[in-house]
Amino acid sequence: MADFKNILTDVKNGVLHLTINREDKMNALNFETLEELKEIFEDVSDTKEIKAVIITGSGEKAFVAGADISEIASLNEVNARKFAENGQEIFSMIENCHKPVIAVTNGYTLGGGCELAMACHMRIATANAKFGQPEVNLGIIPGYGGTQRLTILIGRGKANELMMTGDMIGAEEAKNLGLVNHVLPTKEEALAKAEEIIAKILSKAPLAIGMIIDCVNSAFVPDENGFQTEANSFARCVKSGDYKEGTSAFLEKRQPHFKGE
Ligand code: COA
Repeated sequence: MADFKNILTDVKNGVLHLTINREDKMNALNFETLEELKEIFEDVSDTKEIKAVIITGSGEKAFVAGADISEIASLNEVNARKFAENGQEIFSMIENCHKPVIAVTNGYTLGGGCELAMACHMRIATANAKFGQPEVNLGIIPGYGGTQRLTILIGRGKANELMMTGDMIGAEEAKNLGLVNHVLPTKEEALAKAEEIIAKILSKAPLAIGMIIDCVNSAFVPDENGFQTEANSFARCVKSGDYKEGTSAFLEKRQPHFKGE
């Protein structure tokens, strides 16, 4: 993988570790960082050695404290729409990636940072993580899919409260609301938990994992019939070698060896 200015990349045991690396700016997402994320996720699908992705932020203070306010301070109506659509497109790429993507969030996970975490398939937080959509304090609203994904994850009432007040919530409350999957005391432990979950997922049939991602996502696309997507995906699964391997292994009382074919 190429070197990037704002994101550190490291592939370990098939897992691409992405670290948003603007620590002095609380890892705020500037345009350049977003473009780098786009470039990376364009490659993830086609790169065989990469089987999963973990996204985290540099340092102990923040995962990502939002879009870079110095850049959004001078938007006009035309480029503001483009700004939102571009961010939405990049975060949808993450959400629709067929390889599992987990956010490990430490410290401030605000605005575009919360939206980035919500675009990932799961979130694991450290005990010091703080989540919020404080855009209303700037006279704007979330623009990278936050109004939609937060509502889907925690429900309308709580989503309204968080976005309208701009309040931050702690990791335990975020877990109780369904915003995060697990809370661990430290970043090291949170990363270890993400790696443990990924190792388990990677022992399963890769094509089925990609289809689970499609089907779950399709539950939230109003024009799509998720049940139809599920039935079609189920039918596609049985054409795979992994289906034959999984069912044979069960009947032969042995562990399956999936090839993603
Ligand atoms: N965009 C650009 N810069 C940001 C930023 C953001 N979203 N969040 C933090 N920074 C910068 C600060 O400007 C500061 O830079 P400086 O040292 O050059 O002045 C640096 O990161 C440290 O932030 P600071 O505010 O001094 O730290 P703090 O511990 O007092 O407060 C936060 C931390 C996260 C509570 C506070 O920075 C904040 O409210 N950030 C904005 C969050 C937000 O509104 N996000 C949504 C944006 S749409």
